[in-house]
Amino acid sequence: MSTFDDPVAVAHYADRPPRLVPGFHDLHRMAAILLVERAGPVGHILVLGAGGGLEMNAFATTQPGWRFTGVDPSAAMLGLARTMTTPHAERITLHEGYIDTAPPGPFDGATCILTLHFVPREERVATLKAIRQRLKPGAHFVMAHFSYPGEPVARALWLSRYAEFGAASGLDPESTRAAGVAIADRLPVLTPAQEEAALAEAGFTDVALFYAGLAFRGWVATAP
Ligand SMILES: C[S@@+](CC[C@H](N)C(=O)[O-])C[C@H]1O[C@@H](n2cnc3c(N)ncnc32)[C@H](O)[C@@H]1O
Repeated sequence: MSTFDDPVAVAHYADRPPRLVPGFHDLHRMAAILLVERAGPVGHILVLGAGGGLEMNAFATTQPGWRFTGVDPSAAMLGLARTMTTPHAERITLHEGYIDTAPPGPFDGATCILTLHFVPREERVATLKAIRQRLKPGAHFVMAHFSYPGEPVARALWLSRYAEFGAASGLDPESTRAAGVAIADRLPVLTPAQEEAALAEAGFTDVALFYAGLAFRGWVATAP
């Protein structure tokens, strides 16, 4: 069973990203700034990996003119998203599934936060392309997730820094170290160069790094 289908793990989900991802709340603020550049104050935003609802809640709070379509394969994480975004419920539509279940849009912007590192390497470009095809010309796409060098020694170093950040934020050091090992073993993490190549291959232009927090990176790209 995936962590995102485990009711106990999902019940405690919201507490973890702010402790594991450096500048987590600032990441949301930066993403909103990058999206509003093209979406403006009234827009429809596609959120892939919307489970938990943390970014939709942050965006909805600061952008009262935005509505959201959220997509996620985990029913439990979508349930948490519903709870987290209750005050904004009339502006949010949720779809259970992968990117192909998202309506065609076109959307004024899209985000995918802490999610693409779960998408197998061979599906990454197709997923990015499916996002790009749902955007209006000129719209921004903002993504952030694990991305670090592929060499084993460098990878281990960045994941140890990730674990130390979690421990320094009050999480159990043993569990964050075990999580770092599991990430190295199981997640199809790309290097920063591979991420940028995948965005370009999917048809995005003006790919720019805007965020780096230890083992995490974030990019903004434009749908031509
Ligand atoms: C770490 S959570 C991030 C959730 C949210 N974006 C956040 O930042 O708190 C990852 C989410 O991605 C979802 N997910 C996993 N694989 C996915 C895929 N291929 N497409 C879309 N969502 C996926 C999981 O169900 C989970 O809700």
